[in-house]
Amino acid sequence: MSNFDLKDFLARQQTRVEALLLSRASRLEASGTPPGLADAMRYSLLAGGKRLRPILCMAFADTILQQSVSLTPAEDAACALEYVHTYSLIHDDLPAMDNDDFRRGRPTSHKVYGQALAILAGDALLTEAFTVLASGPEPVRASLCRELAVAAGAAGMVGGQVLDIAEDRPAQIDYLSRMHGMKTGALIRAACRLGVLAAGGSADALSRADSYGESIGLAFQIADDILDVMGNAKDMGKPVHADAAAGRHTYPAVIGLEASWMLAERKVAEAVAAVEPLEGTGGPLAVLARYVLERNS
Ligand code: IPE
Ligand code: IPE
Ligand code: MG
Ligand code: MG
Ligand code: MG
Repeated sequence: MSNFDLKDFLARQQTRVEALLLSRASRLEASGTPPGLADAMRYSLLAGGKRLRPILCMAFADTILQQSVSLTPAEDAACALEYVHTYSLIHDDLPAMDNDDFRRGRPTSHKVYGQALAILAGDALLTEAFTVLASGPEPVRASLCRELAVAAGAAGMVGGQVLDIAEDRPAQIDYLSRMHGMKTGALIRAACRLGVLAAGGSADALSRADSYGESIGLAFQIADDILDVMGNAKDMGKPVHADAAAGRHTYPAVIGLEASWMLAERKVAEAVAAVEPLEGTGGPLAVLARYVLERNS
């Protein structure tokens, strides 16, 4: 049994992340960003996503923070993760990619601002992530930037997006798990690792965060695929049945709904086991791992 009320925990952490994001986004104009671009960046960034990646980053940082270490690099990492994630959503929704009209319960960026500004708002969010993460005196920031760049880039999220739309993609489980691991898993795994690194955690804590992140990253994308079949658009804030319409290879399409759910359950159990030595039984990380699968949005 968990010691935490999930709803209450998530609400508190979401409020905390919103405040961190707002304080950084409010600096945009002062740094010379054209107001129209700042508007488009804020429209997508402050649209109320679940904030899973920053929450994971902060949950790891809170769990293992060393007394002498400042929390600010972890807070900046949490925001940088959400900047990169938000940019990936803006570009994912473009007509050239998934061509979706709704995201986070509102019209997508290109529907409101047009494709050119949507592309540029995505570019600016990606770049701004590294301005946020690199700004500050702590030496650890260089390795935080590298972690995030590798996870977001050609061998991570961007590479995974390419595998997802490749003409010759095979409907095979090995291909799917590699693709999911890159397009979604890499950033979620990085969120966990960044929290540990920013808080001065040990090599053992980093390796536990790595296993946990890898497992819940896969469970998260399997859940996203299942929700595209079973969920409803109102809860999700984005269209459902979009994967089948686009002919995407998903876990439910390739191995069936039940086997997909069982695999994701197994991954969540592995994640929970990996972090038990860090937080004991039923702590926030265990609760978050279950949430990844049992969410309805
Ligand atoms: C959606 O991510 C895109 C995927 C990686 C599957 P989220 O489900 O975390 O979206 P938000 O941030 O809550 O809107
Ligand atoms: C996209 O996956 C993951 C990203 C890197 C943005 P999907 O295309 O399945 O995400 P949704 O379902 O549109 O949120
Ligand atoms: Mg997509
Ligand atoms: Mg999509
Ligand atoms: Mg999806």
